[in-house]
Amino acid sequence: MLHDPRFPNLFILDHPLIQHKLTHMRMKDTSTRTFRQLLREITQLMGYEITRDLPLTTQRIETPIQSMDAPIIAGRKLAIVPVLRAGIGMSDGLLDLIPSARVGHIGVYRDPETLEPVEYLVRLPDLAERTFILCDPMVATGNSAVYAVNVLKQRGVTDAQIIFLALVAAPEGVKVFQDAHPHVKLYVAGLDNRLDEHAYIVPGLGDAGDRIFGTK
Ligand code: URA
Repeated sequence: MLHDPRFPNLFILDHPLIQHKLTHMRMKDTSTRTFRQLLREITQLMGYEITRDLPLTTQRIETPIQSMDAPIIAGRKLAIVPVLRAGIGMSDGLLDLIPSARVGHIGVYRDPETLEPVEYLVRLPDLAERTFILCDPMVATGNSAVYAVNVLKQRGVTDAQIIFLALVAAPEGVKVFQDAHPHVKLYVAGLDNRLDEHAYIVPGLGDAGDRIFGTK
């Protein structure tokens, strides 16, 4: 895991498989089908890393041979919350790993004029003692990511209960995110160079939603 001294709560997952798959996702000729599949696979690998610290307890079980106290994840409940629409491409991979997780949705789009987030849907599971994994592939301006965390915090979810999982971030967006939510951990596969004049990440991978869903 890499750290950038500018961003204390940013974690860059530099596992070779994650980096290799991200490179293929960046290629402009990668098909929709392959892009979607790679995003699912990367999210599984990232999910493996970010759940590393989930607390374990033990349960008394019977194997065919004898009884034992076997490790299981402690009562902590998880919720996966994709930021629509591109976040959906990541929630499938997370659900492969954590099939019993609840799933919420936060629908936000970026106003093309102001670049500010506009909310159109929020549906969340009950909030008690859950860890929320918010997911959205691109942290560009950071405004949608900040907004999504605000949605949870306004309902009483604490910083420590929230993990934000993205694929690629721009430094500008990470700064905005960190200034707004300095204690929320942000995990990415790549920290790119900058935003362009249309708020696309450079070099990035283009419009993640369009590439996942095959739209233009
Ligand atoms: N959203 C995307 O999908 N791609 C970008 O580069 C920036 C925002």
